[in-house]
Amino acid sequence: MVNEFEIKKQICDIGKRIYNQGMVAANDGNISVKLNDHEFLCTPTGVSKGFMTPEFICKVDENGKVLQANAGFKPSSEIKMHMRVYKERPDVNSVVHAHPIYATSFAIAGIPLTQPIMPEAVIALGCVPIAEYGTPSTEEIPDAVSKYLQYFDAVLLANHGALTYSDSLLNAYHKMESVEFYAKLLFNSKMLGGPKELSNEQVERLYEIRRQFGLKGKHPANVCLNNKNGEKSCHNCGNCHSAASSSASSQDDVIAEITKKVLAQLGK
Ligand code: 13P
Repeated sequence: MVNEFEIKKQICDIGKRIYNQGMVAANDGNISVKLNDHEFLCTPTGVSKGFMTPEFICKVDENGKVLQANAGFKPSSEIKMHMRVYKERPDVNSVVHAHPIYATSFAIAGIPLTQPIMPEAVIALGCVPIAEYGTPSTEEIPDAVSKYLQYFDAVLLANHGALTYSDSLLNAYHKMESVEFYAKLLFNSKMLGGPKELSNEQVERLYEIRRQFGLKGKHPANVCLNNKNGEKSCHNCGNCHSAASSSASSQDDVIAEITKKVLAQLGK
């Protein structure tokens, strides 16, 4: 078991990476790590995440209440968003929030990342929906994000940025890198006349590979009911594709429909 000081150092290291990669400007972004059900480490509010040292890192409980913070440091203003992810996703041990340029541009334009354009993005992420706009630091963002948590490990935040979460700090950060890389490729291919999307069959084969690898986390390959019924999977059912060129709300409809079907299957 890695000790707390080591985890604080790892948070500082990931802070440097997101800052140096231009995924955050100035004091933007925040990172947290779950120690156990009642203790979480998080970055402080209002500091550059690229220049943190371990004594900057705060400790909070499951309600975001401060357990330990050195003088001059208070937990991230977005701690409620992090806590909602931990509450609703017991498999998650780390949450990363950043404002990467390309992913955030899609979040501002209201275009979810749904076009299947390269195998790694399809396998790692499937689709990346956009959670409705919420005022930072309020319950609005946790509420908006909540409905996507059971189906995705990455969400864009409308007019704001991106949120990723996983079973470890490194994996949560890697998801952020994957989201940004996917967004960048999608943007560039649109500039070059539009991407040639993978076919339904190609997507389905990638989903099958993901299932065979037994990759952890939530992903459309594992939840799409069409897929379970042996029909076309979520990524190629047609709705996601069309959502890419329409508004975020049509993507919301797709998610709402999937949620309804999942709940119906569970008999709720
Ligand atoms: P904090 O410094 O309070 O974590 O806020 C940064 C941010 O990006 C808010 O969205």
